[in-house]
Amino acid sequence: MDLDIATIDPADQSTLDAAYRIAAAAGAVDEPDLPPLCRRRFEALVRHPMPGIDTRWSVARLDGVPVGWVRVDLHLLDNIENAGVDLVVDPAYRRRGVGRALFAYARRQLREAGCTRAVGSAVAALPGEQERELPGAAFAAALGAKAALVDVRRRLDVAALDRPRLAALLADARAAAAGYRTVRWQGHPPEEYVADLAHLEGRLLADAPLGDLAWEPEKVDAERIRGMERALDARGIRRYSVAAVHEGSGRLIGWSLLSLAANTTRYALQQITIVDPAHRGHRLGLLCKAENLEHTLAYEPELDVIDTYNAAANTHMIAVNEQLGFRPAAGSTDWQLTI
Ligand SMILES: CC(C)(COP(=O)(O)OP(=O)(O)OC[C@H]1O[C@@H](n2cnc3c(N)ncnc32)[C@H](O)[C@@H]1OP(=O)(O)O)[C@@H](O)C(=O)NCCC(=O)NCCS
Repeated sequence: MDLDIATIDPADQSTLDAAYRIAAAAGAVDEPDLPPLCRRRFEALVRHPMPGIDTRWSVARLDGVPVGWVRVDLHLLDNIENAGVDLVVDPAYRRRGVGRALFAYARRQLREAGCTRAVGSAVAALPGEQERELPGAAFAAALGAKAALVDVRRRLDVAALDRPRLAALLADARAAAAGYRTVRWQGHPPEEYVADLAHLEGRLLADAPLGDLAWEPEKVDAERIRGMERALDARGIRRYSVAAVHEGSGRLIGWSLLSLAANTTRYALQQITIVDPAHRGHRLGLLCKAENLEHTLAYEPELDVIDTYNAAANTHMIAVNEQLGFRPAAGSTDWQLTI
């Protein structure tokens, strides 16, 4: 058997198609409760990386047949010693050393770029879950990586959403949020708030529990936010936002974002929710998130599932999510390997 690994040229459509098919086949096996992978999003990950990311994709061919790929994300603006590594092998070709060979290839790229740590995530078991095969976790452990951060994916079944309770939570949150008002938008944020959003995004990792993950706060400015928006446009991601504005200063100090991929009207991700530390304790996180849920449902009436990821240690955010009806669906671990 001849195993060959080569860089993917973003213009090489047939190799991209093969990489997509591998990712879709793996997703159906590894996370069967997630919707099919969005092709437009997948291709844009290769062709339109986020600003400040140098992304390198390589494909493994076994006797000429594409069987796996690895993506290395080198960070140019911050975290320059950390590289994201995503590695997927077609379920029909696993346990033949393809994963190990792809990682060895990625490791050489990391060394050449001067990175000292590789970070990747893999599906994990939930506490109390019946034992099952977790190839990503077994593979990461076999490489010598350390489990650095445990996340839980929680799911909201929209049909079971208790709407009167949501209305009551919102009314409570509004009462606790005197001196603040909310603003909402779809897609791009209004230009007047971009600098404040950059400040909030930059704070996110300074505040979120990161476990043992060695990750520095990201340097985010208005231009980087605009570049991220362009990258999201290229992926075809529909975005809904509700944010909180401090009436005294006019500054935007809290934000919650929900998004849907181009290939679905039924599945959304609850993404960022953040409140500036100086404005915490006014239920602004709950306010933005709950109001954004209503906002999104008004435009996406077919939505039936919303997933969100939280660090298992992020008790405050988890309490907000549980109040809204989110329940644990799967575990996810960030693995870190010093190379
Ligand atoms: C994880 C993954 C990439 C492994 O690919 P692979 O080609 O099967 O990996 P390899 O054959 O090189 O396995 C290397 C070692 O990992 C361990 N391993 C891999 N899969 C395993 C499994 N299902 N059960 C137990 N150990 C496993 C073994 O120690 C294996 O060595 P061995 O076969 O000599 O015992 C593949 O299962 C996959 O695509 N999973 C979904 C995506 C993912 O989780 N990626 C990892 C992100 S960190």
